[in-house]
Amino acid sequence: TKQIQIAIDGPAAAGKSTIAKKAAELLGYTYVDTGAMYRAITYKAIKSNIDMQDEDKLTNLLKETSIELKPSPEGQRVFLDNQEVTEEIRSKEVTASVSLVAAHAELREEMVRRQVEMGKNGSVVMDGRDIGTSVLTNAELKIFMSASVEERAKRRLSENKKRGIHSSLEELMYDIELRDKLDSEREASPLVQAEDAIFIDTTSLTIDEVSEKIMKLAKERM
Ligand code: C5P
Repeated sequence: TKQIQIAIDGPAAAGKSTIAKKAAELLGYTYVDTGAMYRAITYKAIKSNIDMQDEDKLTNLLKETSIELKPSPEGQRVFLDNQEVTEEIRSKEVTASVSLVAAHAELREEMVRRQVEMGKNGSVVMDGRDIGTSVLTNAELKIFMSASVEERAKRRLSENKKRGIHSSLEELMYDIELRDKLDSEREASPLVQAEDAIFIDTTSLTIDEVSEKIMKLAKERM
C-alpha cells in the first residue's frame, strides 16, 4: 500500500483532532495538530508581553522558537522550547488570542514551512484550517469537516469538563463563532474548503461513523 497524506480542515471544535488522531492511530501514521503550533506561539507571545498586532515581533519570536509535537498514549504532547505546554495552550486566554496571531501572513509562512517539512514523507494526518489549501496541497485525501455551532459548542463543553476547564454553552458558542469569523475573513490563507476536499457534516454523526467514513476514503487512495 501507498503511504498517503491526509489533510483535515474545518472550523473550530468540529471534531477534527479527535478524528485525525484516531485515523492516525488506525493507520500507524503521524498525527500533526497544527492548531497546537499556533496556540504554542500565542502562549509564548502572551508570556513575552508581545502585542498581538505586531506582525514583525511575532514572526521573529516564532523564528527563534522550537515547537515540537510528540505522540504519547494519552494523546499528543506539545513542547515549547523543550518545556511541556500541552495543557497551558488550551487556556481561555490563549484561545481568545490565537486567531489574532494566526492572521499574520509572515508568521503563517514560517508555520507552513515547518508543517510542509513535517508532512513531506507522507504517512501523516494533519489537521488545521489551511492544510488542504496551503500545506499539504497535493494530499491524496482532503477532508473538510463541519457541524452546527451549537453541536460544536456542546462537544467542546464536554471536552472542557474533562479537562477541568469551566465554561458555559453560551460562552463557547460565542467563542466558536468569533473564531470562525476571524479565521474565515482573514486575508492570509483564510479558512476555506479546498476545491478537491470532501465535505463531511458531522452534526448528527458519531465519532465512529466519521472515522469509518474517513478510513474508507483513505483505503481507496492507498
Ligand atoms: O485547531 P485549534 O482550534 O486548536 O486552532 C486554534 C487556532 O489556530 C484557530 O482558531 C486558527 O486561528 C489557528 N489555526 C490556523 N491555521 C491552522 C491551524 C490553526 O490559522 N492550520
